[in-house]
Amino acid sequence: MAKVKIHSKATSLCRCRPCMIITTLHESGGVNAGTFGAYTNVGPKEIAIAIGMPSHTYQNIKRTGEFVINIPNQDQAHALEVCGESIPPDKSELDEAGLTTAPADRVKAPLIAEFPANIECEFWKETDIGYHSLIIGKVLCGHLEEDLLDKDGSIDVIKAKVPFCIRYPEPLYAVLGDPQVAKK
Ligand SMILES: Cc1cc2nc3c(=O)[nH]c(=O)nc-3n(C[C@H](O)[C@H](O)[C@H](O)COP(=O)(O)O)c2cc1C
Repeated sequence: MAKVKIHSKATSLCRCRPCMIITTLHESGGVNAGTFGAYTNVGPKEIAIAIGMPSHTYQNIKRTGEFVINIPNQDQAHALEVCGESIPPDKSELDEAGLTTAPADRVKAPLIAEFPANIECEFWKETDIGYHSLIIGKVLCGHLEEDLLDKDGSIDVIKAKVPFCIRYPEPLYAVLGDPQVAKK
């Protein structure tokens, strides 16, 4: 499926706050993929994510200054479990999940090719919040499968069937449904 470039509204690709997989580069050049659910968009171009400091993702972001957020659909939820496990840097979570990469436009870390939405980010600042660091990234650009474009130019979160983690760590995922206009 072809993807369109999303610039001014790239932050909105994560307004649905589904679980996502962050891709980063190891020192060796290998691709790391980690699952994250504690994040939100906090400004027109800013996304904040609580990332455990021992994780490869945290260490790679601090070393390279960049990362890619990849949003799966319902059928790809198994990858969230695969990338939720810590594996040695010489092994690939994406290989294990049966996924491939595509080059990003603005960063060296790759996109997950099969996922419907991807957001390229550069590290901006962080706040130590205990075990986690609240990493704030600046969005550089986004990619979205064409048929998931909403009428306002961002993601149609119902159609995209993005999985939310509703039980953790014992896995249970759900998708949004039944959209309604709230009446006063
Ligand atoms: C559904 C799900 C959500 C998760 N959310 C977070 C999160 O928000 N922050 C975090 O630090 N770890 C989270 N984890 C755990 C990380 O995925 C795990 O520590 C993983 O090993 C990190 O990978 P890495 O070391 O390759 O970066 C989550 C795991 C799962 C399965």
